[in-house]
Formats: sequence, C-alpha cells, structure tokens
Amino acid sequence: MPAIIMDGRKAGDFLKPYLLAHAQELAERRHFTPHLAAILVGDDPASAQYVKNKQRLAQDLGFKSSTIRIATADATSDRLRETIARLNDDPDVTGILLQLPLPSGIDVFPLFDAIDPMKDVDSVGAASISGFYRGQWGRFIPCTPRGVLTLLDFYKTPVDGKRAAVIGRSDIAGKPMALILGGRLRNATVTWCHRHTRDLEDICRESDIIVSCAGVAPPGRDFLITADMVKPGACVIDVGFRRIAPGRFAGDVDYAAVREVAGWITPNPGGTGPMTVIALMQNLIDAARYRLGMPRAEYPV
Ligand code: GUN
Repeated sequence: MPAIIMDGRKAGDFLKPYLLAHAQELAERRHFTPHLAAILVGDDPASAQYVKNKQRLAQDLGFKSSTIRIATADATSDRLRETIARLNDDPDVTGILLQLPLPSGIDVFPLFDAIDPMKDVDSVGAASISGFYRGQWGRFIPCTPRGVLTLLDFYKTPVDGKRAAVIGRSDIAGKPMALILGGRLRNATVTWCHRHTRDLEDICRESDIIVSCAGVAPPGRDFLITADMVKPGACVIDVGFRRIAPGRFAGDVDYAAVREVAGWITPNPGGTGPMTVIALMQNLIDAARYRLGMPRAEYPV
C-alpha cells in the first residue's frame, strides 16, 4: 500500500485559523501586533524566497514584518552584531530571525547568542537551546523541528519508543531534531547520523522514522535516501533542500520510489517547508504572549 502523504500545506491550512484566532486575541484584547524582523545577508535566491514566504504569512496574519538586507561585502560580524543590538533595543520588534546561511568566515554562534532570548524565535541562542537540550519545551522550539513534530502529531505517526535516524548536524534542523525526538518530549531512540557515519544504509533500514536534513546527495547518486534503505511501513521525513540546476531544487529522498515502501512520507516541496513557516509564526505569537505575561499558545496539534 502506498504511503500516507504528510502534506505540510494541508496541516498548515488546518492550523491557520488557530493562528488567526491567537493573532486576533493579541490585537483585540491586548492591542498588540507582533513584528518579525528578518536579517537577510547577500543575494542567495533560496534565502530570499524563504524570507519572502515567512514575511507573507506574517502579513496574512496581520503581523508587522521587516527585512534588513545586508550586502555580502558589508556583512562583517560587527555589522551583524550592531544590527541585532538595534533590533533587540527596538520595543516594536517581537521576533528576530537571522537567515542562514551566512557568508563563510562569519562565526554564527556569537551572533546567535547576541539575539535577545525573548525575541529568539528561531531558538538558536544559548539561552534558548537549554530548553530542548534538557528535554523541556523551554521558550521556543526551533522552527523546522517544531514543524516536524506538528506533522508527526497531525498524521498520528507513533514516535514514543520507536527507532529514529536523524541525518544532519545543522543548528536549525538536524541537531535540535535529534535531541528533541530522542529527549523526554518525544521518547524515540535516535541514531544521529552525519557525513562521517558508516553504514548509513543499515541504520536507516532498522529505523521506524527517518528524518533527513542533509541537503546533499552522495557522489554518483541522485538522492541520499533511496527505497532500498527504507523499512516497509517506516515514516520518512525530508528536510533536505539543494539546488540541482538554476531554479531547480531537490530534497534528500527519492520520493517516487520511497512512497511505494514507506508508511508515511513528506513530499518535497510541500512537506516540512510550509510547516517551518507555520512554526515560525507560532514562535512569534509565543514571543508576543511571553512579553505580555501570557503562557505559550495552544493548538489542537
Ligand atoms: N535558512 C533556511 N531555513 C532557515 C530557518 O528556518 N531559519 C534560519 N534562520 N535560516 C534558515
């Protein structure tokens, strides 16, 4: 039987009325409009598109959004730190997003840590990561893992006690995903894989859940995750994103073949991408609510 398609647009459409209700509560009862400020460095078309998608949903929800564009040549650590400091001090700004990747040579960690923890809607600073490191929700869950958790819940995919392979070590996807799935929030048994992992094929074949956040294909192959690597009935989540030709992008998973074997699968595009944007709005709403002394917003999934 072909896999259940974990449709991120469908899950997002289900959640939007709840996001709108939270937005309305903030606007009408608290007279508060969340404001997302994104820092976009350089002219990478994929990054520009990501930021545009985030700003568009923010505006659809009636939120303010602004983009601070910095040319690659001007993007020194000092300039980025000054920009973050200015946004931290601006009482009108509720959430700050430093769009990745940054030019090579810039140490991202001091910049992550410079973001005011109350505005760290990407959950990348040291104060934010302590929450999920400890197996707690904390203030914010990083957007891509939060979106994946919502998709798993929306499609009622069993996670507790299951074996999961998470592939990738980025600070916004693979690393938090492995910690969160394996931690007390979800209780899976996680094998955290990366470019140095040997026998990736065997690890994947033993897994009930595969979350692939690599964004690369091995030399000579079109995809990292192929049908022969997937246990029948497993859940396969594709967070990978890579440019294969001008204007053409691909994920990590051989979707057409794997969907014949898997029990659940995300399309790409249309799977985890839209959920990441929804999760960012959920974090932005939470940032506004925390500022007003309110608890984290609740959703049916
Ligand atoms: N680049 C690609 N996705 C993301 C994301 O979710 N957050 C940030 N900061 N950069 C990204």
